[in-house]
Amino acid sequence: MREKLEQLKTTAIAAASAAKDAAELEAVEIKYLGRKGEMNSIMQGVAGLPGAERPLIGKLANETKRAVEAAVLERRTELESLAQGAIAETEWLDLTVPGDRPPPGHLHLVTDAVTEITETFAALGFTRVRHPEVEWEWYAFEALNMPGDHPARDEWETFFMDLPAGRQARQGRMVLTPHTSSGQAREMQKGKLPIRMINVSKCYRRQIDVTHVPMFHQFEGLMIDRHVTVTNLKGVLDHFAKSFFGEGRVTRLRPYHFRFTEPSFEIDISCGLCGGTGIQGGQKCRLCKEGWLELGGAGMVHPNVLKAGGLDPEVWSGFAFGWGVERTMMMKDGIKLDDIRHLYRNDARFLEQF
Ligand code: FA5
Repeated sequence: MREKLEQLKTTAIAAASAAKDAAELEAVEIKYLGRKGEMNSIMQGVAGLPGAERPLIGKLANETKRAVEAAVLERRTELESLAQGAIAETEWLDLTVPGDRPPPGHLHLVTDAVTEITETFAALGFTRVRHPEVEWEWYAFEALNMPGDHPARDEWETFFMDLPAGRQARQGRMVLTPHTSSGQAREMQKGKLPIRMINVSKCYRRQIDVTHVPMFHQFEGLMIDRHVTVTNLKGVLDHFAKSFFGEGRVTRLRPYHFRFTEPSFEIDISCGLCGGTGIQGGQKCRLCKEGWLELGGAGMVHPNVLKAGGLDPEVWSGFAFGWGVERTMMMKDGIKLDDIRHLYRNDARFLEQF
């Protein structure tokens, strides 16, 4: 048995060192070290040896196996480095050749618009705040003077969420915010007055067509102080129109109805194409048709909303406005976007133009 092992060791090591490539080496490995290989068949014989001899031969068998394994490994490493050497002979790498640069990216045009809007209002002392996008129904509706089954809610039909397991319903169901107005009562509840906030956030509605996407952004301005009037609102809106769209642009307030503002307005901006005249080249302006473009809603905060936020309407007053970031941005001169959905198709050919 001892001799058999010695012989196996010599021939196996010689065979491993003589292997010319990985395939030959593998064949050697299988022949000597494989499950049905020579080493294993000797090992099986060890069990049948007389008691005293068994541990000695067993030890020798293990040593032999380790020696053959080491020889196989050594040859494998050698063959690998030979192969590397051969590659180095046939292939070469010039480290001085300039690499392929990935094309530089840039921020999405909606992100740029959010920054610009935020900075425009910051100049007037409005601070950007953030409020939850997954909100309690109460903040999205009740606090805004829209009780349980009020039909005004239908306009803002949004996505309702199941509560996470184990969470108690607190203020109605949970909704994906249909508008940034849900932040109004939250801001008032902070108790830090006066308030000049600009809340920019994602909003969600079950709508999709050329002018609607199910996820869009709104920016909501809220100013609460003593003796705030419509004049203050108009001043802030005109500042925005001039800074964002350009000097010479003005706003107009049109009576409207929202449950959470009284009085309420739709805000229009004079059209940049026809200069607010509605006529361009002797024809009706193709962009606005009547001199004005609709920006979004605004109004004086309703007393019930002030109360929901914990404020006394006899002491505090304020205005609020809430517009779509995408739609406002699309009204800028030079942005000729005929379908709002392009913004979120993630098509680089479109995005690279801006
Ligand atoms: C509101 O959401 C009110 N909360 C606005 C408001 C705030 C009024 C404060 C008074 C005081 P409205 O549903 O009209 O209003 O939406 C406001 C703007 O959001 C729209 O003018 C439009 O610019 C934008 N918008 C609404 N739905 C979508 C949509 N699905 N996709 C893209 N933009 C949208």
